[in-house]
Amino acid sequence: MEIIIMPSDNEVGRYAASLMAKEISAKPNAVLGVATGSSPESTYKHLAQLTSEGLDLTNIKAFALDEYVGMDLDHPESYHSVIRREVVERVGLSPDNVRVPNGMAEDIAAECADYERDIKESGGVDIQLLGIGSNGHIGFNEPGSSLVSRTRIKTLAPKTVKDNARFFDGDESKVPVHCLTQGIGTIMEARKVLLVAIGKNKAKAVAGLVEGPIGTFCPASILQMHPNATIVVDEEAASELKNTEYYNYARDNMPNWQRPETLKA
Ligand code: GLP
Repeated sequence: MEIIIMPSDNEVGRYAASLMAKEISAKPNAVLGVATGSSPESTYKHLAQLTSEGLDLTNIKAFALDEYVGMDLDHPESYHSVIRREVVERVGLSPDNVRVPNGMAEDIAAECADYERDIKESGGVDIQLLGIGSNGHIGFNEPGSSLVSRTRIKTLAPKTVKDNARFFDGDESKVPVHCLTQGIGTIMEARKVLLVAIGKNKAKAVAGLVEGPIGTFCPASILQMHPNATIVVDEEAASELKNTEYYNYARDNMPNWQRPETLKA
C-alpha cells in the first residue's frame, strides 16, 4: 500500500488524475471504476484537463460503484446524474461506455447479478477510484459489510444519511434509505485501487484504513490486503496517521520511473 500525503485537495486531484492517465495511456481500452462524492471532484477536474491536452478516452469503459434505490435516475443527485455530469460531460467518457447500477430496476437482485456479469465480461476493472465515508465505508459498504460481499442492496448507515444530507438541502428525510453498491469482494478484484480523501472529517477513517486492524468495523481497512492500492490524502485527512515520516520519505524517494508522468522530476 502506498500512502501519498499532498498539501491540498488540488494536489491530491493532480496526483490521482496523473495515475489514472498513466493507466489509460498504457491501455487505451482500460476499464475504470469511478466514484461519486466530493472527494474525487479535483481528480476529475485534472483528468478533464489531461483529456483536453490529448489523453484519448474513446475506448475507455467505466463502471460506477453505487446508486440510490428508488430515486428517479434523472434526479440531480442520483448517481446516474452525478456520473453523467462529472465523468461523462466533464472528463469526456462516451455515455455508452459508462455503466451505473440501476436503483430503479424492478428486480433488484437480478440487476445486481447483471452488474457483476457486466464487469466480468468487460475484462474486469483496471483501476478503481474510491472515496471513503467518514465511517470508513467504500462504495456504500457500511461498517458491518462482509469483506467478501458482491453487488447488492444495502441500508445506508445513519451517519451516511447525515453526511449526505448536504446534497439534499440539508434534509435527512430526503436521503434515500437504500442503495445498490458493488461489494467489497467486487471492489477488491480491481487490478489497482486508488483512494482519495480530503479534509479533517476523514482523518479517523483514513487512520482506520491505513493503520487500523482489518475488519468490517472500518470496511476500507480491507485495502491493506490489496496488492496494488494507492491512498492519496491531503494533510488534514492524514492528521491521525502515525507513520507519516515513513510515508513521506517513501514518497520523496519514489524512483522516477514509478512516478506518474505529470509529476516526474
Ligand atoms: C458516498 C459514496 C462513496 C463516497 C463517500 C464519501 O456516500 N457512496 O462512494 O466515497 O460517500 O463521500 P464524499 O467524498 O462526498 O465525502
